[in-house]
Amino acid sequence: MQRKIRFNKAPLLGDDLIYVEQAIKSGLTFGDGTLTREVESILQDQFDDAAGILLTSSCTHALEIIAILLDLNKDDEIIVPSFTFCSTASAFMMQGAKIIFADSEIPTMNIDPQSIENLITPNTKAIVVVHYGGLGCKMEKIMNIAKENNLIVIEDNAHGFFGSMNQKQLGSFGDFSTLSFHGTKNISCGEGGALIVNNDRFLDRARVVREKGTNRFNFKSGKIKKYEWIDLGSSYLMSEISAGILKKQLLNSNKIQMGRKIIWMRYLNALSEWAEENDITLPSKPHNYTHAYHAFHMIFPSFETTKSFLKYMEDLGIEAISHYVPLHNAPIVLQTEKRTKELNLCPNSSIYSDRLVRLPLYYGLELSSVDYVIEKVLSFVVEKQKSKF
Ligand SMILES: Cc1ncc(COP(=O)(O)O)c(C=O)c1O
Repeated sequence: MQRKIRFNKAPLLGDDLIYVEQAIKSGLTFGDGTLTREVESILQDQFDDAAGILLTSSCTHALEIIAILLDLNKDDEIIVPSFTFCSTASAFMMQGAKIIFADSEIPTMNIDPQSIENLITPNTKAIVVVHYGGLGCKMEKIMNIAKENNLIVIEDNAHGFFGSMNQKQLGSFGDFSTLSFHGTKNISCGEGGALIVNNDRFLDRARVVREKGTNRFNFKSGKIKKYEWIDLGSSYLMSEISAGILKKQLLNSNKIQMGRKIIWMRYLNALSEWAEENDITLPSKPHNYTHAYHAFHMIFPSFETTKSFLKYMEDLGIEAISHYVPLHNAPIVLQTEKRTKELNLCPNSSIYSDRLVRLPLYYGLELSSVDYVIEKVLSFVVEKQKSKF
């Protein structure tokens, strides 16, 4: 029987539901309860300089809270990488702002600081960055650009949890950052996220926006006798059931991260020489960066090779997959901007997203399976050459 190797599976730790049971037995399963506060305090230990941490129903919703907090209008421009998930942009578009797409740097696929600088206008309000695959963007440069131009910085840190640069955690540079606990992420609870508020002037209002625009947080803390609707907001709380799953995962985060690191490093060590010989780019790991080991990607020299590699892996039962379709040419953007794809504003994002493939990577993926993937990857070009004769 052919082996089937999945791209991703959420971590299984044993006794995964222990805290969920606690929530159910307590009869209090809605958000902002004991487990939520416990998980927020575990996260606070990771981001010790943060003004506050709010668990949310997703990373998308954490970005939406930020967009509400910025009081955007139609003239405001938000610089967002083109090579990212749609939520990075849609949260701000939903509040009426204009999204300005920045190109990626090669080989990291992270937002290019030069591209950011070229796009700044008097209407620019904020820069959003994504630490692609778990490697930090050039945050010192980006923070300097933001400071010079008086801009808010948001780190969409869906990939970068536990990553750092010069010993500073990814997610602690900007005014805000967000985490995703979606089932595809390193730490997960099915669907879930967090908002890290680093700039304390936004904290109180963030709590209101998360609670449907009410001051219920103050009511629960005993500061007021009745809670009222005082601002814009929506239903952005994580349930206690999800928080229970998340608590178990976070208490085991060292184990999960170590498991992912072993696989990631095994790919890197085994494939480096082959990659160099075949003009294939692997993720970089600069010495002053700690990678978050979210993704292991390879960039192929041409779209044709990428396509045949994807088919080759599929035929072998190995789930290797591409990633984002650049947002600057997404149908909704072309429609909004009344233009066609021909004006390719972010060439690196387009060219390299067509050539990018990610290998299976998850906590619990057996090393024998990793070695099987490596063996097959290494034989890819060799097999192509053989077939020429
Ligand atoms: C960079 C990035 N931001 C945001 C999200 C959305 O995360 P969530 O599913 O938690 O809303 C994703 C999802 O994969 C992502 O890759």
